[in-house]
Amino acid sequence: MRTKTLLRQIQLIALAVICFFAGQPVPARTTMNTTLDVTKDPHSFANTSEVVVTHLELDLEVDFASKRLTGKASLRMNNKAGARRLYLDTRDLTIHRVTVGSSESPATYSLGDPVPYLGRSLMINITPEADRVNVYYTTSPEAAALQWLEPSQTAGGKRPFLFTQSQAILARTWIPCQDSPGVRMTYTARVKVPPDLMAVMSASNSTKKSADGLYHFQMTQPVPSYLLALAVGDLEFRAVGKRSGVYAEPGVIKKAAWELADMERMIAAAESLYGPYRWERYDVIVLPPSFPFGGMENPRLTFATPTILAGDRSLVALIAHELAHSWSGNLVTNATWNDFWLNEGFTTYFERRIMEVVYGKSYAEMLAQLGYQELQRAIAELGPTHPDTRLRLDLSGRDPDEGLTEIPYEKGALFLRWLEETVGRAKWDAFLRSYFDRFAFQSMTTDGFLQYLRQHLLSHDPALEARLRIDRWIDQPGLPPDAPQPRSREFDRVEAQVKLWQSGKSARTLKTAGWTTHHWLHFLRTLPQPLTRQQMADLDKAFKFTQSGNSEILFAWLMLAVATQYEPAYPALEKFLTGMGRRKFLRPLYTELAKTPNGAQMARRIYERARPTYHAISRQTIDAILKWGH
Ligand code: BES
Ligand code: ZN
Repeated sequence: MRTKTLLRQIQLIALAVICFFAGQPVPARTTMNTTLDVTKDPHSFANTSEVVVTHLELDLEVDFASKRLTGKASLRMNNKAGARRLYLDTRDLTIHRVTVGSSESPATYSLGDPVPYLGRSLMINITPEADRVNVYYTTSPEAAALQWLEPSQTAGGKRPFLFTQSQAILARTWIPCQDSPGVRMTYTARVKVPPDLMAVMSASNSTKKSADGLYHFQMTQPVPSYLLALAVGDLEFRAVGKRSGVYAEPGVIKKAAWELADMERMIAAAESLYGPYRWERYDVIVLPPSFPFGGMENPRLTFATPTILAGDRSLVALIAHELAHSWSGNLVTNATWNDFWLNEGFTTYFERRIMEVVYGKSYAEMLAQLGYQELQRAIAELGPTHPDTRLRLDLSGRDPDEGLTEIPYEKGALFLRWLEETVGRAKWDAFLRSYFDRFAFQSMTTDGFLQYLRQHLLSHDPALEARLRIDRWIDQPGLPPDAPQPRSREFDRVEAQVKLWQSGKSARTLKTAGWTTHHWLHFLRTLPQPLTRQQMADLDKAFKFTQSGNSEILFAWLMLAVATQYEPAYPALEKFLTGMGRRKFLRPLYTELAKTPNGAQMARRIYERARPTYHAISRQTIDAILKWGH
């Protein structure tokens, strides 16, 4: 093992020396293996072990009337193997024609048979010398990555809105590409939109509307396809720091900029932990409420749900999370979706480290314990022996969107905390920083990470290795018995009050002064179950949960309201379910409702109205819960 590594290092040094004298850049090492050996991705048709796309030039026109993007994608490629065919991923695209090279000579091509959720391969005949292909195409109004909003679904109510969501494998529904996180490309784009709207991408952005509706973008750092992103709407920009700012609709911009005022401190904190921010700017766009996720780490421009605008900055850990992806995910990228924990587990760990620097240890520990509760619940729901409770997933033959749970986030973060606690923070931090440096702008497999870990942190120390039980974490379901158990002292106070209330004191006499959102979340999660409707009424009267403007608190409360059939909260429940489309809130609420006949009936009535306003990603999930269309 050691001899092999040594040999490999000698090889790499020799290669670097040769390249240096030949005046060539040292080739990027994708994984620990050779450049040619791109990890096989079960969710892509692309023949990436032969030819890789290195640069994308997009030219698109956005048509709100027909809900279509039309234009051209030019893909520059590196045909390492001299292949005569290029396979791209597409789904629901209409291909008009394909040409090869800058001279645009017509190319022959064929579309493969459609495969559920993977779409169709687009095979293009190329010559080994060809340096680019040009695909002329139109998207479908049903393209799963695109949500076209009616003016009524926006804050302003006057203009339509469009946003994309490419992760995990939806980029192919709006751009023909090698849709695998193991391949990276730089890109430029020219996007034409109606003149009164502004377009922004995961790239360099302007801060003002253009007069003619034409926008030009450049992304000079190579990114995987799942980070390609576009939003179009009536947008305004407001700076909050020297390299950070917020985009939102005019009616939301003030609130958004206030809420996210600590962004610059977060960036500085992240840099102090794990090295320079390498993407120049960090901006956030606050989208309309139908955005199906909390946040999406599109490079230079995080896409965020407006449900984080609590009015007191208490939900900004989500921004720390998306920012952290600028290292874990966007810089060092999971090679396939089976390695998703390398993105999300690292990011969840890193998010809490940023929060610790900016808001203190006790704040971060509350987040850690709430996360630990979510992990326990996720394991309980799946069952402690379920294969999806392993860190290394096997998603082949499945839609990754269905197989991605909270496990990679929270079990991943807990594993890194375990490593930190075992080797000590100083050593661990130095290791992590070197990991991000060493693999910046490359993809990483679970094995690649473990190899680097053993080499650079564990120094092949058998005693340490035995203590860590890495295999137990990575490839075994559930949690190891000696896993860390985050515990916040702040929550002692909360639990004491819950006990008092349980022993018969009325809710309004409880000592809750100074409680933050996270205290309240812990309170709601540790209430004795099942509650009676009378108890619900007592709590509601004292704390006004049904009227809460904090989406996380309201969500936790509504979960209890459904479980206890506390009817006074039903109008608020209906408003919540029809007012936003964030899947993390929708899925548990509809699931809980579906457990009783009355609940299921109400769920279907609400869903019938809400469904057209939800994103395809949320729709797919809720359709399955309510057996919609059956
Ligand atoms: N990258 C994810 C969102 C994602 C994951 C989209 C998988 C599609 C497939 C993003 O960073 C994320 O994790 N968002 C969370 C918020 C976070 C604070 C846990 C979300 O949207 O809830
Ligand atoms: Zn994430």
